[in-house]
Amino acid sequence: MSSRMAGAALLRHLGPRLFAAEPVSGLAGRGLVPAAARILPARMSSTAAEAATREAAAPEQHGGGSTEKPKPADGQEKKGIVSYWGIESPKLVKEDGTEWRWFCFRPWDTYRADTSIDMKKHHEPRALPDKLAYWLVKSLVVPKQLFFQRRHASHALLLETVAAVPGMVGGMLLHLRSLRRFEHSGGWIRALLEEAENERMHLMTFLEVAQPKWWERALVLAAQGVYFNAYFVAYLASPKFAHRFVGYLEEEAVHSYTEYLKDLEAGVIENTPAPAIAIDYWRLPADARLKDVVTVVRADEAHHRDVNHFASDIHYQGMKLKDTPAPLGYH
Ligand SMILES: [Fe+2]
Ligand SMILES: [Fe+2]
Repeated sequence: MSSRMAGAALLRHLGPRLFAAEPVSGLAGRGLVPAAARILPARMSSTAAEAATREAAAPEQHGGGSTEKPKPADGQEKKGIVSYWGIESPKLVKEDGTEWRWFCFRPWDTYRADTSIDMKKHHEPRALPDKLAYWLVKSLVVPKQLFFQRRHASHALLLETVAAVPGMVGGMLLHLRSLRRFEHSGGWIRALLEEAENERMHLMTFLEVAQPKWWERALVLAAQGVYFNAYFVAYLASPKFAHRFVGYLEEEAVHSYTEYLKDLEAGVIENTPAPAIAIDYWRLPADARLKDVVTVVRADEAHHRDVNHFASDIHYQGMKLKDTPAPLGYH
């Protein structure tokens, strides 16, 4: 068998597992669910409930503008557990009386972005870790610009898959530290996890604007494998470097979204209606457009920039994050 044929056969086998939008259940795929459910009823019930939740949250993943459930490929309606021992997701309504349709965020998670935040702020790199972080980010900007050019939606989509990693890694490591050392976190665990979730919502929003191609999915898979581990090691070795690096990444994100806005204003990119998920998440007016969405996303990035530079500065002053209250309470 030639290497090309072998590669094609491997892709056919692994393709759905690696690049599918929905996770593929190994047990379900092999028709072993009933037998396994008899052995592990609680665990399997939880998985079914998760599947039901995923199905109910279909607008998050299927266009956002439709409440129609996706039809299963085998033509059979899936039936999941919607309540487990009385635990179920409460039905919520919006101010206008319509049902709250998002399970990935609830009304109390929504907010109005502070668009008055200064977009031009830049932390001047002085110490060596700062310079390293700055030039590392700058070295990534050139290939990024060559690759995406003015494909702003694809750029945003792929970059947000990376942007959502540091907050989760930092939050996880601070969480473990808090457990290990029997100490408070000063609110930083929550602040960093909120950042990760906020970035993921950016991703869910741009998923309504552009769809990733198969090779972009492959790229994200590889990038996540490298970036998660690299950032994990960097954060363990030097949190001040890791936060500074994210601070500079966020500065670049602000710049990228500014370019996106310029092209929207110039009419180079069509200013389409805002996705429904964005209108609810940022409390935008019902007639909001893509430009309004990019404006609030950019404000979020500027906030992440400030939080991460702040976190790095705390370490530079020889303190731990827990010694300074986290900037919680605003996004
Ligand atoms: Fe983002
Ligand atoms: Fe960000």
